[in-house]
Amino acid sequence: MSNKKFHLIIFGCQMNLSDAERLATALKQLGYQETKSEEEADLIGVVACSVKQTAVDRIYGKVRNWQLVKEKRPLITLLSGCVLEHDREKLKDKFDIFLDIKNLDGLAESIQKAAPEEKLALPSFFDIQPSYYSKYRAYVPIMTGCNKFCTYCAVPYTRGREVSRNGESIIEEIKNLINNGYKEIVLLGQNVNSYGLDKIKAGEKELDFPQLLTKIDQLGGHFWLKFLTSHPYDMSDQLIEVMKNGQNINPYLHLPVQSGSDEILKKMNRHYSVESYIELINKVRQAIPHIAISTDIIVGFSGETEEDFQASKKLVRDLKFNLSFTSQYSQRTGTVAAKLHADDISQETKKERFNLINNQIGENAKAYNQKLIGETHEVLIDAVNKKENNYINIGKLENYVAIHLASKEPLSIGEFYQVKITQADSWGCQAEILQK
Ligand code: SAM
Ligand code: SF4
Ligand code: F3S
Repeated sequence: MSNKKFHLIIFGCQMNLSDAERLATALKQLGYQETKSEEEADLIGVVACSVKQTAVDRIYGKVRNWQLVKEKRPLITLLSGCVLEHDREKLKDKFDIFLDIKNLDGLAESIQKAAPEEKLALPSFFDIQPSYYSKYRAYVPIMTGCNKFCTYCAVPYTRGREVSRNGESIIEEIKNLINNGYKEIVLLGQNVNSYGLDKIKAGEKELDFPQLLTKIDQLGGHFWLKFLTSHPYDMSDQLIEVMKNGQNINPYLHLPVQSGSDEILKKMNRHYSVESYIELINKVRQAIPHIAISTDIIVGFSGETEEDFQASKKLVRDLKFNLSFTSQYSQRTGTVAAKLHADDISQETKKERFNLINNQIGENAKAYNQKLIGETHEVLIDAVNKKENNYINIGKLENYVAIHLASKEPLSIGEFYQVKITQADSWGCQAEILQK
């Protein structure tokens, strides 16, 4: 067995984590073993994210260091993931391999070019058997790319247009996961609810998202089923109905709103109004009353006035989101917003607005969690820490609420337990175990 080692540095969202699981398999087929240590790696791969400048800056910092390492020992560096044209031009000479994520099937060829002595035969990207990072929670990509072109966003440029994965291949992967005891399946895509439409429009026979979700839900066995991310524009009545009637589909929906101001939503090219978003949330809650809904908010977008920001904060309060992935606007070179509008909100104002949204989310989460006291729920355990003579078991409910559970004996990571919620705060809940 070869003793060459690779180390992957993964930025960004679960989509990149999922891509990295397939990239890892390809590298293993080339005889590399994974290492957690950058220092002992013969090949370092970066899976980049371009949503915010901060993540890109971290790559530039690392590259300088690797150039010094290369003067002392052989090292292959590989760049992949979401990289904007502007950064690609600047970074391409600093990496030995650049893997274009839009050309996923070119993976084998690119690796072979940098190491021509190696032989690699891989199926198409989605059919590569992933080297899953978890033994009980799996991220399953169902599509890549995005057609929405929100004016601030890098994704349509880095990942290209929407391409849906073949439905049978998705179902096959999930069947195997369930047979191997996986407890949580998270379907991934930038707009999962437009899954299949590219193929259907091209006259190919493919399932749409509600049909795909139904098939997966009915595979048998008990598991948690989630999907990330949905776009409000594609949130159909049919999908709400499937969620309502699902056996394994979690009462959880991530539905990014981005702003509570119609003016800003229009500038962002989001294709909905605040009123229509509120109506949509009301419809979802009417159908599934106990559903937890999380969102994404951008603060400090070009021209966001105090009034626009207050509208976002009010929306967060009124719609009682208990989780938000809040971002401070980061102008991305090449996007429509960067071409048309100045990045005119100061860093201090962005930070202040960011904190105010998150404080509101904290209050909402506390109120939401307190309503859970006395209820019985299923929890999936993620970690166990020893504390004096007890164990503190850390897990999540099916709607991502964090749970801490004290026990005399450690619980098993990756297993479900029935618990009763006893106390609540903004970070999550304390619970006591009922039975396995
Ligand atoms: N497709 C999903 C959607 O439309 O909701 C989200 C995908 S995007 C990669 C994840 C989140 O990053 C977005 O919802 C947005 O809140 C944030 N984001 C994207 N571009 C950004 C930018 N230029 N500055 C700050 N946040 C940004
Ligand atoms: Fe980006 Fe908008 Fe596409 Fe989401 S829907 S990935 S925010 S362009
Ligand atoms: Fe995800 Fe960043 Fe790409 S958020 S899709 S890794 S640009």
